[in-house]
Amino acid sequence: MSILLAGEFDAAERAHWLGLLRAALPDETLVTEPTDADSIDIAIVANPPAGVLQGLPKLRLIQSLWAGVDRLLADTSIPPEVPLARMVDPAMNEAMAETALWAVLSLQRDFVDYAAQQRERRWQQHPQRRADEVQVAVLGLGQMGRAVVRRLDANGYRVAGWSTREGRLDELLAASDIVVNLLPLTPITRGLFDSRRLAAMRRGACLVNLARGAHVVEADLLAALDAGQLRHAVLDVFHSEPLPADHPFWSHPRVTVLPHVAAQTDARSAAALAAANVKRWRTGEAVANLVDRARGY
Ligand code: GLV
Repeated sequence: MSILLAGEFDAAERAHWLGLLRAALPDETLVTEPTDADSIDIAIVANPPAGVLQGLPKLRLIQSLWAGVDRLLADTSIPPEVPLARMVDPAMNEAMAETALWAVLSLQRDFVDYAAQQRERRWQQHPQRRADEVQVAVLGLGQMGRAVVRRLDANGYRVAGWSTREGRLDELLAASDIVVNLLPLTPITRGLFDSRRLAAMRRGACLVNLARGAHVVEADLLAALDAGQLRHAVLDVFHSEPLPADHPFWSHPRVTVLPHVAAQTDARSAAALAAANVKRWRTGEAVANLVDRARGY
């Protein structure tokens, strides 16, 4: 039997992954095209487009190289009984913590405004806020959310975590200067930041979205920024990626755009973690980090 590697890789990335996976799984056959569909029982995938895994009658395990598996769960061509494991990698969690810290720090100390001022050759000093004067809400308390809470806490911020199991989101939003979104994208969290929730946020607060673009109703966010309800948004994820060249976020003075890089999969550690799960599967051990399809992550 063999393993299919599938994803939106360019040639160099594909070769890199193949090299790492072949080194970690020397007894396995790895292929990048399902030419012999009957021979494939495992797929290792990086956010593949819908339909890539159809027509594989012997498929028994899907290992994602991405932490978020919303795209795989939305792919109706994947038989729901095939177990799906997501990537849980301490290296990614730390990368996410770094990005969240950078965003919160840039907002706390007005560095986003100083960057804009530099482009205008404008010398203007803002009052300096202390970290312990800034209330941060971290939405989503999975591995990444918890790593972010730890990092922000260690840097002196007042941090409150929230997960969908808890109620009273509006109260937390109303009490927070900066809201960092790390929720999984599920039917419950899709469109969470609509005009009503954005209005529930403290006036002049900031939104940092490092999770999925579909958590935010983009037109509502633009309206909230234009009205001054929100001071700034740091966005790593969008409804449509790459963000279209004519999208208003690109040039909006209150938006910082990142090209979905808050926590990229670290191929070195992720290949080893994926290989370990493949070996567990082959030897009949429990596979780690299986997704609960009903829950959506
Ligand atoms: C990136 O967004 C991931 O889910 O790994």
